[in-house]
Amino acid sequence: MNPKKLIMLPGPTNVPERVLNAMLTPVMGHRTPDFAVLMKNIVEKSKQVYQTSSDVIVFTASGTGAVEAAITNIIRKGDKAIVTVFGEFGERAALLIEGAGGVAIKVEAPFGDVPRMGQLEEAFEKNKDVKALVIVTNETSTGTMFKWLKEAGDLAVKYGSFLILDSVSNLTADDIPVDKIGADIVATGSQKSLAAPPGLALVSISKKAKKYIIDNPPPLLYFNIARQLKYAEIGQTPFTPAIPIYHALDEALNMALEEGLMHRIQRHKLCADAFYSSFKAMGLKLFANEEVRSNTIIAVNYPEGINDKLFRGLLDKEYGVVIAGGFGPYKGKLFRVGSLGEVHRYHVVTTVSAVNNTFRSLMGKTRSEDPVEIARTRLKNL
Ligand SMILES: Cc1ncc(COP(=O)(O)O)c(C=O)c1O
Repeated sequence: MNPKKLIMLPGPTNVPERVLNAMLTPVMGHRTPDFAVLMKNIVEKSKQVYQTSSDVIVFTASGTGAVEAAITNIIRKGDKAIVTVFGEFGERAALLIEGAGGVAIKVEAPFGDVPRMGQLEEAFEKNKDVKALVIVTNETSTGTMFKWLKEAGDLAVKYGSFLILDSVSNLTADDIPVDKIGADIVATGSQKSLAAPPGLALVSISKKAKKYIIDNPPPLLYFNIARQLKYAEIGQTPFTPAIPIYHALDEALNMALEEGLMHRIQRHKLCADAFYSSFKAMGLKLFANEEVRSNTIIAVNYPEGINDKLFRGLLDKEYGVVIAGGFGPYKGKLFRVGSLGEVHRYHVVTTVSAVNNTFRSLMGKTRSEDPVEIARTRLKNL
């Protein structure tokens, strides 16, 4: 097994060495002044990448924890929430709303596309007293992106609703200026565009959401935002945090801020464009509607006759390039390349070359004198 692979998944992503090394810092007590300093640094830097002056809290959890915290701290029995559903993560948000006793009003689009503002407006018109609008800003399962966040924020204000964003797979890859949008709770995860290891879930909380949650404490223990905020005042977390990953997140945030948020966003856009153009030039059909395609998840239909398992297995075995398959009904029908976090020219060019070579060999388009095919044949037993 080659331990050093190119992780071109929709998360976890490749983690820069600087970030990995930060985890070697000796473990400290989480009720110490040293931890309080670490936490303060993380919060200050997180606010910058969230483009917010409000609170940001960090849970030891995967991204789902952040989304679950966002929804269950706001939604109570009988509350209505409008939720965009255009893939797996929208479905999960709807499940969370219903799990909290709420009523999920789904605003849907065919997978590969995204609901439009008119549909959201119509849902608000038809349903009075909607407590929250929940939007998945980047649908990782289909490689599509909801682009009208400022308009959605204005709509939420117009109807007196909270705005909750699942930005697990694109915060710091796309421009999500939380305060400008007027988003109340925005969820993300450490292992996606932030390029830190998996294990931490971040949420921003607007002043309005903070007041609501403190005045109406949720019936929760671990994901209780009111409790987290109280401990955050003294630089602590209510429960034992994954301290090594906190160090990693701190360093990942340093890297994001050193690069500059706008540069990072532009880099993601350039890399995604390069992927889309290259795959198109290979004759492949892109899955997402071009107008709403993601800058971080590149979803591509398999050509007729290509076996997903075989294709991704060869990419991994021969090139050390790890990509994802399709989700749910699209299992076996499409592949997804994660173009996020550390992604750079090297990652794109290497992945495109590996995909191109693998398709050529699987589709019998190689010539016997093709150098890649010669190496493959010579090493077929290795
Ligand atoms: C948009 C979105 N929301 C939520 C999640 C859940 O994150 P995790 O798998 O870290 O729990 C993911 C993970 O892929 C995601 O892409």
